[in-house]
Amino acid sequence: AQRIAEGDFVTPVNQQRRGDEIGELADSFIMMRQRLKHSMDEIQAWNRELDARVQERTQAALAAQHEAQAARDDLRAVIDALSDELIVIDADDYRILQVNRAARERLGNGREPIGQLCYEAAHHQQPCRESRDTCPLTDVLSRGQSAQATHVQLCGDRERFVDIVASPMRAADGRITRIVELKRDVTEERRTKESLVRRNQQLSILNEIALTVNQSLNLEDILDRALDGILRLTHIDVGAIFLQDEAAGDLKLMAYRGLSEEAARLAAHIGLLDGSCGGVLETGQLVIVSDISRFRGPRARSLQREDLHTLVHVPLTAKGCTLGSLCIGTHHTREFDPEEQDMLNAIGSQIAVAVENARLYAEVQHKEQVRGQLFKQAISAQEEERKRIARELHDDTSQTLTALLYAAEEGLDMADLAAVRKKLFNMRELAQRTLDGVHKLLFDLRPSMLDHLGLVPALRWYAQSRLEPKGTRVVIEQIGEAPRLPPEVEIGLFRVVQEAINNIVRHAAARNVSILFNLNDRAVTAYIEDDGIGFDPIELTTPGESLRGLGLMGMRERVELVGGVLDIDSAPGAGTRIHISIPLLERGYVYA
Ligand SMILES: Nc1ncnc2c1ncn2[C@@H]1O[C@H](COP(=O)(O)OP(=O)(O)O)[C@@H](O)[C@H]1O
Ligand SMILES: [Mg+2]
Repeated sequence: AQRIAEGDFVTPVNQQRRGDEIGELADSFIMMRQRLKHSMDEIQAWNRELDARVQERTQAALAAQHEAQAARDDLRAVIDALSDELIVIDADDYRILQVNRAARERLGNGREPIGQLCYEAAHHQQPCRESRDTCPLTDVLSRGQSAQATHVQLCGDRERFVDIVASPMRAADGRITRIVELKRDVTEERRTKESLVRRNQQLSILNEIALTVNQSLNLEDILDRALDGILRLTHIDVGAIFLQDEAAGDLKLMAYRGLSEEAARLAAHIGLLDGSCGGVLETGQLVIVSDISRFRGPRARSLQREDLHTLVHVPLTAKGCTLGSLCIGTHHTREFDPEEQDMLNAIGSQIAVAVENARLYAEVQHKEQVRGQLFKQAISAQEEERKRIARELHDDTSQTLTALLYAAEEGLDMADLAAVRKKLFNMRELAQRTLDGVHKLLFDLRPSMLDHLGLVPALRWYAQSRLEPKGTRVVIEQIGEAPRLPPEVEIGLFRVVQEAINNIVRHAAARNVSILFNLNDRAVTAYIEDDGIGFDPIELTTPGESLRGLGLMGMRERVELVGGVLDIDSAPGAGTRIHISIPLLERGYVYA
């Protein structure tokens, strides 16, 4: 029994006496020892089996653990690879529990983000409810579902727009324990969108102004419409338009809105250079005076009294030429970014094109009027000429012919030879004078000298007979061989030079006149120069002026009719030079 108690089931029990109690006890012990041994063996076998199973389970658990770790690592890598910021926040105290790499980099204000309050880390101090942004966390907690918000954060001195999506994470009992925030920087998208919207607005403004200014061909009307449009469509409070007046050589205030005429005129003097719309006309570039108060002097002070703070001078440019300036202003100081400057430049061009159209239209109108006038004049001149010839034929030629007839009849009745001779002598005188008169008439109808002598000698005779009696010296020269010109060119040129000579006789008070012809088979040119008092040719052609200058206009028309050009160069006190050039070859003239 002691050995068994000590765990010895191997040593056999001494079995010397059978049948007695001890022997029975020994038998029992032997049996017990055998049973125990059997049980022990069984237990040991189970134990080994159990061991093997435990071993197996442990291995499986380890493998599962490895797998889970790998999955976690993978998930972490995925989350870290996100360019969006991911933050897990404790729903109870708003402390940050987890961040991905992007969030860590963003929040990295030198401190470990995990454990910080989300608003401390993300927007430096206050919780959202104290700033202007709505807090997505409170939203998630109150509504129990995902929430979306866009926050504006200051990043240095730049604003940063962040889109946030916050989603709840729940515990087994359904309580929200954590919130996942996914943040994305949408500043760039925002700016692109805003810029698109702005561009769109600007385009429609431009379109509308283009439409308005093109609704009229009247200059004043166009400028008024343009200013009204600008003030209505843009955040601009006042405007004025100046146009260069070529004839007068200065700037003219054409229209103004929102400010007094005096202020509009003053505004033109504020800018880079004094005197011409802030320098716009010299440079052709937009000029911005962002703060008038920085300008000293009475002009700037007057403008400030009109509550003007920022001025912009916009060039009105068409075909590379600055026609004037659009001067706009605001009642508060403000900046004009490059996009707005582009728009203002485009508005300026629109106005300039409309101005040019209106001017061209006025010019055409004027030409039309002059042409009508010329036509009427030509008709009535023809009529006058016919009347004059009829009168001359009636009063002069037929009178003298009648006189001759009477004289002849008287002569027939005379017996005294001496008296008849005297009568005949008088009759010859009368006939000669009449013949001269008829020749003169014929010359006016068509200068026969042109046919007999040719263009240059005929004009030489004309110029000498008109100018020399007035004490004006005249030289007529010819360069090149003179082929016979086409008849319409010849008569045209003759009449034009004739009118030029008449003008010199009537207006120039010249001492010397020189006329030079240059003839070759490609072109004929004539150059008429006098040293008289001269005049201003622009003044004569300016629309709205009187219809003076019809003679010159007629000269130009005649030259243009045969495909040539006529230039007038004159100025008061500087004599007059007229240049005529008529191409021959291009018109297909062939000389005999
Ligand atoms: N050679 C000239 N010298 C000075 N003035 C001139 C000359 N030619 C023309 N003019 C000026 O131009 C004006 C217009 O001339 P023109 O058209 O021929 O009309 P008109 O001779 O009928 O006045 C004249 O009135 C005159 O003042
Ligand atoms: Mg004339």
